[in-house]
Amino acid sequence: MNFHTRKWVKPEDLNPNGTLFGGSLLRWIDEEAAIYAICQLDNQRVVTKLISEVNFVSSARQGDIIELGMKATHFGRTSITLRCEVRNKVTRKSILTIEKMVFVNLGADGKPAPHGREQIRYADEAYERYRQTVQSAADATAMAAANEAEREAEHDEEAVH
Ligand SMILES: CC(C)(COP(=O)(O)OP(=O)(O)OC[C@H]1O[C@@H](n2cnc3c(N)ncnc32)[C@H](O)[C@@H]1OP(=O)(O)O)[C@@H](O)C(=O)NCCC(=O)NCCS
Repeated sequence: MNFHTRKWVKPEDLNPNGTLFGGSLLRWIDEEAAIYAICQLDNQRVVTKLISEVNFVSSARQGDIIELGMKATHFGRTSITLRCEVRNKVTRKSILTIEKMVFVNLGADGKPAPHGREQIRYADEAYERYRQTVQSAADATAMAAANEAEREAEHDEEAVH
């Protein structure tokens, strides 16, 4: 499970009992899970389809630092299923678990579209794709500059003759 995002529990996140408000936590989880699904499926058009039973295992208090963990457990044709856990960053005590969050990959028409993914994509793979994109952009710029220089050289030769 990947624990990427940390949150600091502040006064505005508390319920009348003085502990972390469940609604705040669910909002954070939904956003974190959506970002995870977007990165895995390489598509910004992803919507939450289903959130299974939410287990609020223990309370977090003001000042606690918590971390949000995600793991893809199933890749469907148009959907991805995640398991989520929130825990105290320092004590590692579990705060919340959600067995299933299902996100659906949408096409430009807003309808479910096949995503073509079958397994978890790791950060180094995403970095490699980014590096290749930057490299090909740099190659294209260098090629255009070389072509331009060649054209200018031909033009200069013509002028000399
Ligand atoms: C997401 C939505 C487009 C899916 O429409 P749909 O008619 O259910 O689409 P499909 O029947 O083709 O199912 C799409 C995928 O969702 C899965 N799915 C549908 N209902 C499901 C359910 N109750 N539980 C788990 N998965 C479900 C299907 O198995 C399918 O996955 P697969 O292709 O990997 O097998 C539609 O339900 C919707 O727009 N919902 C609102 C989304 C939303 O606004 N979310 C909150 C804000 S992000």
